[in-house]
Amino acid sequence: MTDATRFGVIGTGRITRRLVADLQSTDGVSVTAIASRTQDRADWFASQYGIAAAVQGYQQLLQRDDVDGVYLSLPPSMHSEWCLRAAEAGKMILCEKPLATSLQEAIQINAACDQAGVRWLDATGWLHHRRTAEMLALARSGQLGKIGHISVAVSFYRPFQSGEHRLDPALGGGCLLDLGWYTTGASCLFADQLPSKVFADSIEENGVPIRTNAMLWFDGDLTAGFSCGYDTATRKWFEVAGSEASVICDDFTRPWADRPTRFWVHDAKGEVQAFQVSDRQEQRMIETLVGQSSLEPFNSLALRTQFVLQALAESVQTGLPVHLDHSTLV
Ligand SMILES: NC(=O)c1ccc[n+]([C@@H]2O[C@H](COP(=O)([O-])OP(=O)(O)OC[C@H]3O[C@@H](n4cnc5c(N)ncnc54)[C@H](OP(=O)(O)O)[C@@H]3O)[C@@H](O)[C@H]2O)c1
Repeated sequence: MTDATRFGVIGTGRITRRLVADLQSTDGVSVTAIASRTQDRADWFASQYGIAAAVQGYQQLLQRDDVDGVYLSLPPSMHSEWCLRAAEAGKMILCEKPLATSLQEAIQINAACDQAGVRWLDATGWLHHRRTAEMLALARSGQLGKIGHISVAVSFYRPFQSGEHRLDPALGGGCLLDLGWYTTGASCLFADQLPSKVFADSIEENGVPIRTNAMLWFDGDLTAGFSCGYDTATRKWFEVAGSEASVICDDFTRPWADRPTRFWVHDAKGEVQAFQVSDRQEQRMIETLVGQSSLEPFNSLALRTQFVLQALAESVQTGLPVHLDHSTLV
């Protein structure tokens, strides 16, 4: 395939294994190189995944002519630096979530990509699943009545390994940035607006939140509440509650592996309608990145998510509700 978009991979973590396979199984995409801090690890990964070039050092990968785009799967505190360097090198970017650790970093990434004419996406696969578009269309169609409340829960029970970045404040650890990326993003997406006020509280371990509960207030008496953390069994669900019915999804971040991809509408009489929508969300995300369509809706949601996460972190720190000044995002 001569005109395939050639990806270089930066980092060799747990999620890298899955995304490399997703990149390799997407039409019009190939993986030509992988970079690690150490040559041994790059060699091991390259041989395991059939990648031609194993590179020591991330900058070395950015300098390669056989790389058109990069997939960054580094700890959150490193996303900004390597997105900026990738933009400077003119490489398309697929960056793992959270996009960054602050709004300022996220805005800089967006501006640098804009200036360099580089397309970028945060690797938030669920946004690209056809099911998400269907649930969103339903919520916006008026069929649920007036949307009053959104509740979201995302957790994994202690998904830790040694040297875990999730437990290291210096690496951007903690459940708020990590899992709150999903809960905040889902709240903003279904609310279709930014909150005017937020409040959050966390339980901490090692100086990072391991459980965060939050409330978000939107115009029109719409509220959202979420819980995310590392101290309960896997949950990845939400409910969008309207005056007539609710949309419920129990695996929105990534469909359960062993059953059809579904969601439900529960109405006021207890009637339940089940919907099934199959798709391959990561492949669709990659196709969108390498395609021609505008990425503005995804880029904008990423920036809004980072904006709200920052306000939530401030609320955790101060113990007070935070009123959001939307003009800081423009
Ligand atoms: N989209 C999803 O579904 C999903 C799922 C899980 C995680 N993630 C996100 O993906 C990113 C990586 O998560 P992960 O769980 O895959 O991480 P991980 O297993 O810890 O891997 C991170 C990689 O970053 C590199 N690295 C460079 N400096 C490092 C440092 N100081 N400490 C640790 N690693 C360092 C390492 O690669 P080398 O040593 O080879 O250089 C390491 O293998 C995070 O932003 C996370 O939130 C996304």
